[in-house]
Amino acid sequence: MIDTMLQASAVDEEKTASSGILPTYKRAPMRFVRGAGVELFDESGKAYLDFSSGIAVNAFGYGDAGIRETIESVLSTGLVHVSNLYRTRAGEDLANFLVETSFASSVFFCNSGAEANEGAFKFARRWGRAVGTGAKTGIVALRGSFHGRLFASLAATDRPSYRAPFRPLAGGITICERDPTELDVALDPESVTAVIVEPVQGEGGVRVIDADLLAYLRRVTEERGIALIFDEIQCGLGRLGTFHAYEHFGVTPDMVTMAKPLAGGLPMGAILVAKHIADTIKPGDHGTTFGGGPLVAAVADHVVRRIADPAFLARIRENGDWLAGQLADIARKSGRVRGIRGLGYMWGIDVVEPASDVVARGWEAGLLVITAGEHTLRLLPPLVISKAELQRGLSLLEKILS
Ligand SMILES: Cc1ncc(COP(=O)(O)O)c(C=O)c1O
Repeated sequence: MIDTMLQASAVDEEKTASSGILPTYKRAPMRFVRGAGVELFDESGKAYLDFSSGIAVNAFGYGDAGIRETIESVLSTGLVHVSNLYRTRAGEDLANFLVETSFASSVFFCNSGAEANEGAFKFARRWGRAVGTGAKTGIVALRGSFHGRLFASLAATDRPSYRAPFRPLAGGITICERDPTELDVALDPESVTAVIVEPVQGEGGVRVIDADLLAYLRRVTEERGIALIFDEIQCGLGRLGTFHAYEHFGVTPDMVTMAKPLAGGLPMGAILVAKHIADTIKPGDHGTTFGGGPLVAAVADHVVRRIADPAFLARIRENGDWLAGQLADIARKSGRVRGIRGLGYMWGIDVVEPASDVVARGWEAGLLVITAGEHTLRLLPPLVISKAELQRGLSLLEKILS
């Protein structure tokens, strides 16, 4: 009897510790109750300067008036969802804006980053079947990539510990070195329909892909009739100081996948699709109940128009250049830093100790930074952060790295 009671209380304790949520994440100990500007506040009222933006989502920080007003105005119409069986103005306005400001002829809306990549793989296969023999189905991803946690996006993700427990993954997807000699062999036009690249690899350690490698990939994929997909889910939509990441590198792909900041914190993904691929897609080829509903689409329309403002983007480029110098200074003085990498408002700092130890010191100091692998810290400040707030974050960073 006592044994049973003890067991029951152990189970209760375990339940409380995990808050009933399946423990797929190691969560930080504090609970956030409020956000304002670029700060979050926990239950005790302690403020945390946010250099992580909910993993590159909260481009406008917290409590943004424009996002709130947009949500309120949609709610006042009563249309949160109508399904993709019917037309709505918000989705069409957003799609038109994204088409007018890119290479794409059309856009597919979905609900997350992984979903966007899975959709892009399907579109690439549909197109591959239309232009090649039935064998043109292969998808090539790069060493160090992260494309999501669903079966095909996981197969394109180069993280053995994420993959191994879930084999067999989706077939026909291979990982290749970031090297032209190896890519030359991997990109067989008979069997490969697409190559997917994050122009700046985020989870894989904030690695900026060499512009020459991206240009090489564009040339070879064009010559061989292979689709080039850029996964800009983390590095796109202003983070590098250009609206799309591909603009920074001067290389135009055939599809771009987007998500994270797109709908101001509401879940949304999108795929920009070039005409030659879009022309092979017909009703029934793909679908989603929620994708591009009136609420998320209206918020995304608001978000993308603000990010696309040239003055907004110029400020990120300017502050990003300044950040590069400041971070290099911190690295030189610290003794705990091996190197820095990044662009705009997306930076990786290689540290000697486990990066999670530095992250925990950040919580104590009131600074939120995240990791990108065992020994890399990742900085993803909100795009609206002011220079004074960046400076304050850098001072805290210097403190936790000293
Ligand atoms: C580059 C990249 N692709 C895909 C994903 C997956 O996005 P989601 O978590 O919304 O499925 C992420 C998420 O971190 C990402 O950074």
